[in-house]
Amino acid sequence: MSSLGKAGLEDVVVSTSDICFIDGREGRLVYRGFDVDDLAAHSSFEEVVYLLWHGGLPNKKELAAHVKAMRSTANRKIPPKMIQMLRALPKKTTPMEVLRTGISALSAFDPDAADNSREASVRKALRLTTQMPTLVAAWERIRHGKAPVAPNPRLSHSANFLYMMFGKKPTPLAEKTFDVALILHADHEFNASTFAARVTAATLSDMHSAIVSGIGALKGPLHGGANEQVMLMVEKIKSPATAGAWIRKALADKARIMGFGHRVYRVEDPRAKHLRRLATELGEQAGNTDSVRILDTVAREVTADKKIYPNVDLFSGAAYKTMGIPTDQFTPIFAMSRVAGWAAHVLEQHGNNRLIRPRAEYTGATRATYVPVDQR
Ligand SMILES: CC(C)(COP(=O)(O)OP(=O)(O)OC[C@H]1O[C@@H](n2cnc3c(N)ncnc32)[C@H](O)[C@@H]1OP(=O)(O)O)[C@@H](O)C(=O)NCCC(=O)NCCS
Repeated sequence: MSSLGKAGLEDVVVSTSDICFIDGREGRLVYRGFDVDDLAAHSSFEEVVYLLWHGGLPNKKELAAHVKAMRSTANRKIPPKMIQMLRALPKKTTPMEVLRTGISALSAFDPDAADNSREASVRKALRLTTQMPTLVAAWERIRHGKAPVAPNPRLSHSANFLYMMFGKKPTPLAEKTFDVALILHADHEFNASTFAARVTAATLSDMHSAIVSGIGALKGPLHGGANEQVMLMVEKIKSPATAGAWIRKALADKARIMGFGHRVYRVEDPRAKHLRRLATELGEQAGNTDSVRILDTVAREVTADKKIYPNVDLFSGAAYKTMGIPTDQFTPIFAMSRVAGWAAHVLEQHGNNRLIRPRAEYTGATRATYVPVDQR
């Protein structure tokens, strides 16, 4: 008898985990017991990283030490040879390709590369989480013929990234918006990229390899790549006035509309409302809310027609775009946040490991007769 469930491992529970809980019917997302709505309102990305890796909120002293480590130039900097390597890449290399290659290359410089002890893995997770923004920002500058900007230890994780991208400190609203976006993307249970990272970790491979697996899986348009596709759609739609007709035609043509639908949520993704609000506030400050207005019209039409709801990728890009971030950097930014979750899952997997090795239900021939090539 077939033991095959629904395609794509839908609803299959593959392991227990203490890190992240999703209630797809209520539209709730919880990290280590804390509702993401509360974390978005009161916490910081730096604190959420601690929460995910260590299982609880830090006390004042623990938070101060953790924040100091996350901001230290020693952790944030990438070696000069990496910068040389980036300069050697063709300028058309996409930021996600650079990220995948760069994170893999960073393991060659990491003093703990081959050490899978929890202590070493936490050190590597910290370096990867703090080096990733440096790498992403360095590529943005190098591909436009500019010199990379060195990290600034006086700036928060989010402010420092925007500073390294643009060479000037962000406004308080841009910093806050970016930080909340990072909080909201930090973990999401056994999503495709986290599962990929855990499968790699479960072979007792190392932190860098697991994170590279996560990046590879995140890149696709059905996962993290969707935020870029949403912005390309907004650019095609052009203005709020043309949004209704454009989306009705796309729905009639049975197009897949990026930024909608989810394997787990049956209601609106709880992260979408925060990103919508922040994108609106930023747009109002910049005097242009067109992207959000276009997306609101798209959301109304898609939900009415298909009964599917906005996911995390619908409004994030509108906020990033207003900050001046290019569209092809949206998915690397997703990775800059999700690396915290990937690392938490690698630590959990290594803490209680068994090889992840499912089976396939074979549907091919079983007794084919080999015929030499000159007789075929
Ligand atoms: C996220 C996603 C991959 C989940 O996929 P899934 O659980 O495998 O769901 P399916 O692709 O089987 O879709 C189920 C039904 O909803 C429809 N649907 C789901 N998402 C859709 C979308 N974004 N646009 C149009 N129709 C969609 C499918 O066509 C299908 O309809 P059918 O049963 O009539 O064939 C899917 O919703 C999607 O492709 N969304 C767009 C990409 C995106 O935003 N990804 C980011 C996720 S956070």
